[in-house]
Amino acid sequence: MDKLLVHGGATLRGAINISGSKNASLPILAAALLTADDCIIGRVPDVSDTNYMIQILSALGASVERASGTVRISCGELAVEAPYELVRRMRASICVMGPLLARKGRAVVSLPGGCVIGDRPVDLHLRGLEALGAKVAFEGGNIILTAPTGLRGANVDLCGSHGPTVLGTDNVMMAATLAEGLTIIESAAAEPEVLDLANFLNAMGAKIEGAGTRRIVIEGVSQLHGAQHTVIPDRIEAGTFMAAAALAGEGVTLRRVCRDHLTAITAALVKAGHRVDYNPAGDVCTVHRGEDPQGCDLVTAPYPGYPTDMQAQMTALLATTPGLSVIKDTIFPQRFMHCAELKRMGADITVDNGTAVVRGVAQLSAAPVMASDLRASAALVLAALTAKGTTAIHRLYHIDRGYEHIDEKLLLLGADVERVRD
Ligand code: EPU
Repeated sequence: MDKLLVHGGATLRGAINISGSKNASLPILAAALLTADDCIIGRVPDVSDTNYMIQILSALGASVERASGTVRISCGELAVEAPYELVRRMRASICVMGPLLARKGRAVVSLPGGCVIGDRPVDLHLRGLEALGAKVAFEGGNIILTAPTGLRGANVDLCGSHGPTVLGTDNVMMAATLAEGLTIIESAAAEPEVLDLANFLNAMGAKIEGAGTRRIVIEGVSQLHGAQHTVIPDRIEAGTFMAAAALAGEGVTLRRVCRDHLTAITAALVKAGHRVDYNPAGDVCTVHRGEDPQGCDLVTAPYPGYPTDMQAQMTALLATTPGLSVIKDTIFPQRFMHCAELKRMGADITVDNGTAVVRGVAQLSAAPVMASDLRASAALVLAALTAKGTTAIHRLYHIDRGYEHIDEKLLLLGADVERVRD
């Protein structure tokens, strides 16, 4: 198991490339199950979550090759049961459910267990698939979905008590591509990753309109064919490096970003007193640390609102920003594990009822800290960049789930970091 040593105090400058989106890649890889033809997917980040997904596809019978970020998948003969040993490692494995059900009429997937960022049910996924005619049963910790006579289009409202569901929308949209007739998903998630999946599915011959809005209309087709696709840039990786630049930078440039996907993150950084400039094409941005940063309030919300996946990193930035900041996570109200670790580094944070109240302190001090989930670990790395002394971040495997070569990218920008064996 690796840990990351961050020697605080280095100034970040220079330029790096942002990788392809982890959260777009996962359902897109799963969507290759919908056809027996070859699918070629580019800019898939080399992170453990995409590796898990590739292992699941292989275990289901797909032949998969991966080289330099491009994954070629061919799913001739398929099994219908996703192995528990692989599925339990990653919640996003749930998105093989829709494609397997649509192509094979049956899917057996383990019920995802607890998750450190909060309760993560799958009721909305099942509500959507049941509306398309699937029968749902539970047995031995598995969800068993069957549709022996095929799926039929339907109207589905996917609104839950915490808003729409991203992977739930993906699952129902994928299943509906091969259902008979028209499916209308109301209260759909509008995240760019859902649109990217829809673009891939349409390239495979699906008929999907409205992805990227709250209402998606899918006209079922009898089969899909192979396609080639390049995954969108990772807006959360970009946002994480933008926050690092605001915290410890002196002009950091990020290439291969998408300005339109970063509106809420950019606005939050500007509100906290930093400068963010884009080139005219909107695919390169430069962040300058502000001279007079100030605390600000943030509320996470479904896209185009401020993303929950950038809540921890912004909390780390605000921990040393003068003034009071109030940060509310409406999507995962329990996602504040990083705060306990930030407090061990000297941060002044009170968490209550899904809200963190942060009083900016002048500087944090290094401490051994424990990563608890992907974005929490990113927050600890950010906090360590300007902390006094050397911070050891244990359980680095959490960060390797979703950040491609983070230590190498930080080194390129001039940070003083070392990955060592724990
Ligand atoms: N929810 C339900 N019922 C469901 C599904 C979700 O009540 O059946 C609730 C959840 O408990 C949560 C809210 O709806 O309160 C939104 O969850 P959502 O289903 O959208 O989450 P997800 O699709 O499982 C994706 C990302 C997460 C990201 C969330 C929210 C992927 C692979 N994962 O998860 O990313 O936090 O959307 O934007 O796309 C991460 O990258 O660190 C990460 C956790």
